[in-house]
Amino acid sequence: MDPKLGRMAASSLLALLLLLEGGMFSSSPPAGLLEKLFQYIDLQQDAFVQTLKDWVAIESDSVQPTPRFRRELCRMMAVAADKLRRLGASVDSVDTGSQQLPDGQSLPIPPIILAELGNGPKKPTVCFYGHLDVQPAARGDGWLTEPYVLTEVDGKLYGRGATDNKGPVLAWINAVSTFQALEQDLPVNIKFILEGMEEAGSVALEELVQKEKDRFFSGVDYIVISDNLWVSRRKPAVTYGTRGNSYFTVEVKCRDQDFHSGTFGGILNEPMADLVALLGSLVDSSGHILIPGIYDHVASLTEEEKNIYKSIDLDLEEYRNSSQVKKFLFDTKEEVLMHLWRYPSLSIHGIEGAFDEPGAKTVIPGRVVGKFSIRLVPHMNASVVEKQVKHHLEDVFSKRNSSNQMAVSMVLGLPPWIANINDSQYLAAKRAIRTVFGTDPDMIRDGSTIPIARIFQEIIGKSVMMLPLGAVDDGEHSQNEKINRWNYIEGSKLFAAFFLELAKLHE
Ligand SMILES: *[C@@H]1O[C@H](CO)[C@@H](O)[C@H](O)[C@H]1NC(C)=O
Ligand SMILES: *[C@@H]1O[C@H](CO)[C@@H](O)[C@H](O)[C@H]1NC(C)=O
Ligand SMILES: *[C@@H]1O[C@H](CO)[C@@H](O)[C@H](O)[C@H]1NC(C)=O
Ligand SMILES: *[C@@H]1O[C@H](CO)[C@@H](O)[C@H](O)[C@H]1NC(C)=O
Ligand SMILES: [Zn+2]
Repeated sequence: MDPKLGRMAASSLLALLLLLEGGMFSSSPPAGLLEKLFQYIDLQQDAFVQTLKDWVAIESDSVQPTPRFRRELCRMMAVAADKLRRLGASVDSVDTGSQQLPDGQSLPIPPIILAELGNGPKKPTVCFYGHLDVQPAARGDGWLTEPYVLTEVDGKLYGRGATDNKGPVLAWINAVSTFQALEQDLPVNIKFILEGMEEAGSVALEELVQKEKDRFFSGVDYIVISDNLWVSRRKPAVTYGTRGNSYFTVEVKCRDQDFHSGTFGGILNEPMADLVALLGSLVDSSGHILIPGIYDHVASLTEEEKNIYKSIDLDLEEYRNSSQVKKFLFDTKEEVLMHLWRYPSLSIHGIEGAFDEPGAKTVIPGRVVGKFSIRLVPHMNASVVEKQVKHHLEDVFSKRNSSNQMAVSMVLGLPPWIANINDSQYLAAKRAIRTVFGTDPDMIRDGSTIPIARIFQEIIGKSVMMLPLGAVDDGEHSQNEKINRWNYIEGSKLFAAFFLELAKLHE
């Protein structure tokens, strides 16, 4: 007999025994409840992995807008809705219409699932956000296994969506179902908001959150998102902030057509020369942004915050080496983390209209557009930054006495997000992590922009927390994405322990 099958049979039997036993103490939770929950999750782990396998098999790619992928996405949402209904949740699959593509094609947007389970008036209500769509994946892109066939190698479960975000969504569901299997009263009221368009810009989500603010979200005390990663392979993390982003274009134009440098070179203010000077005026070689006033609103650094960076589990040498970078701008872990998370940065992304093919064409571009962005941190304000950038570029440009025209615009202004790490749910998460992993979490931020956290915080006005389950090397969005079996199973325990801790803080 296949040893794995044997193990599964034995674990189902034990699970059944546990289940029967569970029925006897359903009225008052015994001291050993946590152990029972954990034991059940351990015994059910192959079943939990199988469900993940079933979900990964659905090619719910939201990025490639084809009818086939949209059908798969809608199927994914239907499977999830069904799973939640079988948990006893009331489920609303909200139709969010369709999407008009530039080529005239119209494709359905998969429904957004709003589900709720329990409405005990004395219990806190925690809403879980997750997404069930994935980035594109094909074997030919360099995957070592079939991307839509969850494949276990050395405890690593490879498959598209395994860590981003199907695994964490299922871990939350596993936690809920464990209470139910043991006939234990859920200590918290649970709500779910699950979408299928996250990787395509969360089309329709913000509008729905706004619309449901006083209905579905009324009574929600906490919002948990589990859609990012730890900074370590083994040490769990809690994320309490993300940077925002303000994205700029700066156009310098002489005329629409290009010129020949033999015919016009020497008698023109060349747009590219102006643009290079403008871009060159933004940031110095030590990474310091040169736009006057830009640092004025950056939150000052407290002792409490400083200490957070010290204890974070990041091997700077390994990180640097694996990034194939010779030297970072900063030499210590603390400085590197602070410059990724709590200070702004300015990056130059490219030039449209530049002659960027190989070869030696003697063109003078007639019109060029430079692109750069500034990652925003607390308490920077995008509209203030927009004014500062425009003022600075106008100043630099005017000093060049160029006859060209310059136009600056901010095409995107996403504010940063920061939570209060003293909120109850942060405390509950820390305690649950200590119980499950035997360590304090890394308190981390994300240097990139995850608009969903700020959207929830701004619209609903409740505490938002990101509680990731995946390890730093999970490779979300890249080839060979995986989640470790350990992370998935211990993550399910973490959520179960989190429910109990959160309820305790409300007693
Ligand atoms: C540095 O990285 C390279 C490849 O990125 C790897 O082969 C090498 O073992 C690494 N060295 C250390 C000391 O981590
Ligand atoms: C940003 O600054 C503008 C003034 O320039 C102000 O009207 C706005 O309320 C500020 N926004 C935030 C979020 O502080
Ligand atoms: C621009 O013109 C002013 C006066 O018209 C002159 O003083 C200045 O040197 C010029 N700047 C450049 C960069 O040519
Ligand atoms: C959190 O609480 C501690 C101790 O009560 C306090 O020192 C700290 O300033 C608080 N931090 C925040 C961000 O509110
Ligand atoms: Zn994601």
